[in-house]
Amino acid sequence: MPQFDNQPLTPATLAVTAGRPPREHGQPVNPPVVLSSTYASQGPADGSDLLYTRWDTETWQPFEHAVAALERAELPGVVFSSGMAAIAAVMSLVPDQGVLVVPRHAYHASLILAEELAVKHGVTIRQVDVDDTAAVIAASQGASLVWIESPTNPMLEVADLPAIIQAAHRAGALVAVDNTFATPLVQRPLTWGADIVVHSVTKYLAGHSDVVLGIAVTRSSELREKLWHHRTHHGAIAGPWEVWLALRGLRTLSLRVERSQANAAELARRLQAHPQVTQVRHPSLPDDPGHVTASRIMDGYGSVIGLRPVGGADGADRLISALRVWLPATSLGGVESTLERRRRFASESETVPEDLIRMSVGIEDVEDLWHDLDQALRSL
Ligand SMILES: Cc1ncc(COP(=O)(O)O)c(C=O)c1O
Repeated sequence: MPQFDNQPLTPATLAVTAGRPPREHGQPVNPPVVLSSTYASQGPADGSDLLYTRWDTETWQPFEHAVAALERAELPGVVFSSGMAAIAAVMSLVPDQGVLVVPRHAYHASLILAEELAVKHGVTIRQVDVDDTAAVIAASQGASLVWIESPTNPMLEVADLPAIIQAAHRAGALVAVDNTFATPLVQRPLTWGADIVVHSVTKYLAGHSDVVLGIAVTRSSELREKLWHHRTHHGAIAGPWEVWLALRGLRTLSLRVERSQANAAELARRLQAHPQVTQVRHPSLPDDPGHVTASRIMDGYGSVIGLRPVGGADGADRLISALRVWLPATSLGGVESTLERRRRFASESETVPEDLIRMSVGIEDVEDLWHDLDQALRSL
């Protein structure tokens, strides 16, 4: 772990400093992008040298080291071509006929993958509400893998990760956490013992809505080897430019998260008092069901808000159409504020309310964001 005067560097500093070339005269400040599919080599190939870029390349390594440093892992992460590629690699750890615990609400494609495991590999799926700690612990008995998202997409439920991880390990299950919504600045599940952390790098880590990328990070060399093996042999590899862009985006993660979280907390507070709003979900709100747990285990509350305006699904659609600054778009975690009604996707869980708008709060001036929301809400 990088240290200064025996103090571990803080995540804000690591986001800027980790994964740089050596501090030597003539070295570049940023790692170079190497555009080569193969390396000059001969003789025995024992895996110690770079040989072929589906296996490994120096263009991935700085990013893999930087995210690992942020998540407090000694081993480099394993970068993938997308968040879903990373999730597929982790879920492939569940053996045929095994048991997989998943959140009732989670990124819908993750749940689709779990369902595929059930159909094709006889895996038993146990769905749980991640904020019901006792239910998650009960479901982990006999499970191979407990898959957790926290806060969940799009319902923003908060899991008591330390309690769940401890109990799941006692039950002999692996625990993997999708940390996309929180980012490692706000929550570091490996420090509570999680076996694997996954990110859709597409979101906050890259931060500019210009790349699709994923990463999985673990402290176990055995698990890292399995994830590497899956990436290499399924060919779920990242392009060099995407990784370079993601590392550049990562440098400002701390500033972006700080600003977007502050914006989100302020907007959530104002929205809750708005007469045209029926419900707001954001863990920063003192009466939010996730507030107590989030305050105890997280270093912030994240930048995604769940909003239900008056007028049902139609009201939500009209609200989105009336906005001028907020951009109607799927995905989240970019510098720009975006939003969408999640049930527009047929594959979204039926327990997600029809009128729920998932808002990804960006780094714009909070007054401009508020003014836009207020005028759109008034038009309903
Ligand atoms: C929480 C979460 N995990 C994983 C993913 C999938 O990531 P990607 O789109 O990079 O494959 C998403 C995408 O929206 C997400 O929101």
